[in-house]
Amino acid sequence: MRILLVAALLAGTAQMPALAQAPAAKAPAAQGIARTGAVAPILITPEAKDVWTHAEPQVARVTHVALDLDVDFGAKTLAGSATLDILAAPDAARIVLDVNDLDVSAVTDAAGKALKWSVGPKDTANADIGSALTVELAGASKIRIVYRAKPGATALQWLPPEMTFGKKKPFLFSQGQAILNRTWVPTQDSPGIRQTWEATLRVPGDFVAVMSAEKLSGDKGEALPDGRRAFRFRMDKPVPPYLIAFAVGDLKFKPLGPRSGVWAEAPMLDRAAKEFVDVEKMIDAASALYGPYRWGRYDMLVLPQAFPYGGMENPMLTFLTPTIVTGDRSNTDVVAHELAHSWSGNLVTNATWSDSWLNEGFTTYFENRIMESLYGKERAAMYADLDWDGLERDIADNGGQTGAATRLHGDPGATGGQLDYFKGSNFLRTIENTAGRAKWDAYLKSYFDRHAFQPQTTAGFLADLRENLLKGQPELELSLQLDRWAYAAGLPDNARRVHSETLARIDEKLAAFNAGGSAAAVQPQGWTTQQWLRFLNGIPRRQTPARLKELDETLGLSASGNAYVQSAWLELAIANRYDPAVPVLRRYLSTIGRGLLVYPLYRGLLDQGDWGQPLARSLFAEARASYHPSTAAGIERMIDPPAAKE
Ligand code: BES
Ligand code: ZN
Repeated sequence: MRILLVAALLAGTAQMPALAQAPAAKAPAAQGIARTGAVAPILITPEAKDVWTHAEPQVARVTHVALDLDVDFGAKTLAGSATLDILAAPDAARIVLDVNDLDVSAVTDAAGKALKWSVGPKDTANADIGSALTVELAGASKIRIVYRAKPGATALQWLPPEMTFGKKKPFLFSQGQAILNRTWVPTQDSPGIRQTWEATLRVPGDFVAVMSAEKLSGDKGEALPDGRRAFRFRMDKPVPPYLIAFAVGDLKFKPLGPRSGVWAEAPMLDRAAKEFVDVEKMIDAASALYGPYRWGRYDMLVLPQAFPYGGMENPMLTFLTPTIVTGDRSNTDVVAHELAHSWSGNLVTNATWSDSWLNEGFTTYFENRIMESLYGKERAAMYADLDWDGLERDIADNGGQTGAATRLHGDPGATGGQLDYFKGSNFLRTIENTAGRAKWDAYLKSYFDRHAFQPQTTAGFLADLRENLLKGQPELELSLQLDRWAYAAGLPDNARRVHSETLARIDEKLAAFNAGGSAAAVQPQGWTTQQWLRFLNGIPRRQTPARLKELDETLGLSASGNAYVQSAWLELAIANRYDPAVPVLRRYLSTIGRGLLVYPLYRGLLDQGDWGQPLARSLFAEARASYHPSTAAGIERMIDPPAAKE
């Protein structure tokens, strides 16, 4: 393995004298990292090759992006320019960028001289890959692209006022991960090609723009002569381009600590501030575990209900779904998760999307350690125990112990369900338990340090682990089964479930209920989201209408203000073709846009033959306009799988 890696490395270096000749930084170059002076290195090992980009970073690559864009809510367009700094091999004739459905009207050099350019055909295998924008450099090290992002740009969701909390003004946000940013930023959209960036956004006068960067123009921006406002931002640390993000809306800010606070629409602001009150302590706990927080501020933005994810780790400004604001702080593990990405993901980044577990598995592990630091072992065990349920479900749904989609490392996007999260975090917990927490923590802290602001691969992590943690301990290496965890299907036999006492007590109530006990005996007062989920997901799928009615009315499921509880209840109702739940389901699917909460409902409907399939179609037709383009596309693929379309 090791020998192969070195050989591959040499071959890789030989193919690209260009960057190898660039001035090397003083620090010794890590293996496979092409050092190029001040700019972030790229990884040139074969397994770091990103098949989801058109870029040829060894020939010419983007090191800095400067955006200048007008936000037009009427036309649903972003129009303006991107000026790119380019590091090119001396003999490089052109640079290749990623674009997807962008209207490009001109490309010039820094002096305004027109450059030749062309947009290639759209990738047919995966529409999200888009097209190559090739620009003839003619010696230029800076190019300016004049363009427009069209109304259908899949990174963007334009929300009408009725889909906001304030109900008065529209809202716009971007979601870049994994390869959506090429629909509004013409750059090399690959996680291994880090870029610094800056942006000016011009918005209508009564809107606020926020971005995943340092704010240069104050909370209210700068007034322009035409009545609009300009907001300026700068990210001076090199980041993978999927982390460039913005939102525009009727936003207000509330500070929570010296380096943290929350942005939200006014009706959500105080609730969000109460929910996330511990964020400053989380930053302290995370830093104490795995090294300094390197991004300056950590602010959060609570989006409207349509936001497609639980959270998104946009640097300096985590984006969050409002579904985690349940009033009892039981879902702040999502905040811990997005914060943890400030190390695993944003500092050390998966080189390609085949290695997404390096982002999500590490983060799920780290998130749990933050929760343990703040709230103790039992609370952390509760999340981890519930994650194990998810792990078992995902393995069963993806072909079991031999299913190819249960592998951590594979084709990009091939890992099924949330296996990169749950199998990845259990892998790291196994290392912790085997090597001992103190040694493991010291190792992980040094790992983030050694690889800060760099891309990483599965092979790179294993090599680093062997060199810095397992060195000279063959018995540790043997008992860990590292390669099985990283490359084989299913779960190795050294995987262990974490047990929570709190959930064990729910299991007792569940057993009594499932044995015919009354819903009235359940007594769920004060239950956290996790207790509810354990209970509702543990009810056998076959129930009588009378039993479902009893459950719903006694436990207040349809009426619950907790979107997780409603989703778990609706899943059970759908499995029983329970008509009385349909009106609640209809409202739910048209309000909530978070994939994790709505996908299982469509899946459940599609599993219910004549009853569910037409319902899935009609409910989707009604709700579609309320979903983020990527969520809508995902549900459409479920309802009409591409193979069935032919
Ligand atoms: N980075 C992910 C969100 C994501 C994943 C966006 C894949 C695009 C493609 C984020 O950090 C995340 O994992 N969100 C989770 C919450 C987490 C606590 C499980 C989510 O969306 O539910
Ligand atoms: Zn994540």
